[in-house]
Amino acid sequence: MRHPRTIVITGASSGIGEALALAYAGPGTTLGLSGRDPGRLAAVAGRCRDRGAAVEEGVVDAADRDAMAAWLTGIDARTPVDLVIANAGVSAGTGLDGETEDQARRIFAINLDGVMNSVFPLLSAMRARRRGQVALMASLAGFRGFPGAPAYCASKAAVRVWGEALRGDLARDGIGVSVICPGFVRSRMTDRNPFPMPFLMDADRAAAVIRRGLERNRGRIGFPWPMVAAVWLLAALPPGWTDPLLRMAPKKP
Ligand SMILES: NC(=O)c1ccc[n+]([C@@H]2O[C@H](COP(=O)([O-])OP(=O)(O)OC[C@H]3O[C@@H](n4cnc5c(N)ncnc54)[C@H](OP(=O)(O)O)[C@@H]3O)[C@@H](O)[C@H]2O)c1
Repeated sequence: MRHPRTIVITGASSGIGEALALAYAGPGTTLGLSGRDPGRLAAVAGRCRDRGAAVEEGVVDAADRDAMAAWLTGIDARTPVDLVIANAGVSAGTGLDGETEDQARRIFAINLDGVMNSVFPLLSAMRARRRGQVALMASLAGFRGFPGAPAYCASKAAVRVWGEALRGDLARDGIGVSVICPGFVRSRMTDRNPFPMPFLMDADRAAAVIRRGLERNRGRIGFPWPMVAAVWLLAALPPGWTDPLLRMAPKKP
């Protein structure tokens, strides 16, 4: 969509979500921004207001289905939502004893249920208006399971495939769907990675790429291209060939 006026961004209190909020902030724009940390969220909202945007802050856990529905339908009733970017997500360290059951369940609750909680409450209104765009934050980690992040990779794969299918399903209702698949982006999430991150990019640059892709209603916004090529190859090769290599990859502590 070229000029969305009302944009909801979940996980806007830092990183890519913060950069997207600032990229869209301007006069005539209403932003619905969510996160769990009230201080960080208020700081981002303040910077967006300084740029001329109206901002509705929501200190809401994306995994809380009822709270998300109440927050989203409230915004939509006041200013119909043109674009929702379901961005909130977490990863977890698996370095010592591997991933625990609690970690895995929490990652799915936020990265997958949280994405559905961000989309479903808006769909019927978007359908009725025959206008709207849905952007789902997946990852290049969703093309091949990496031993250092089993639930993270699986949650992002599910989001990616759900979005690809939803795109075809919602097209007849005039609703666009895009799946965002970044490589490494500098943020609070990657700041904790002690290992080298090839082609690491700044969140501002990532936000610019994402915004351009959303303006063109691209089905998949994957970047940077060398990482896209690398994961494509990893996914295409037989697991038996790539498993030994991936087992040696460093893990998040
Ligand atoms: N950085 C990368 O290299 C990279 C690559 C591919 C995909 N991604 C994806 O991009 C998205 C943003 O990540 P980031 O890199 O920008 O990391 P980040 O700086 O840690 O940002 C994550 C955002 O999600 C919010 N969040 C986390 N759990 C939440 C919950 N339960 N409810 C509501 N908000 C929640 C955080 O806010 P609070 O802390 O205030 O809750 C924060 O605003 C994630 O989905 C991530 O998986 C990142």
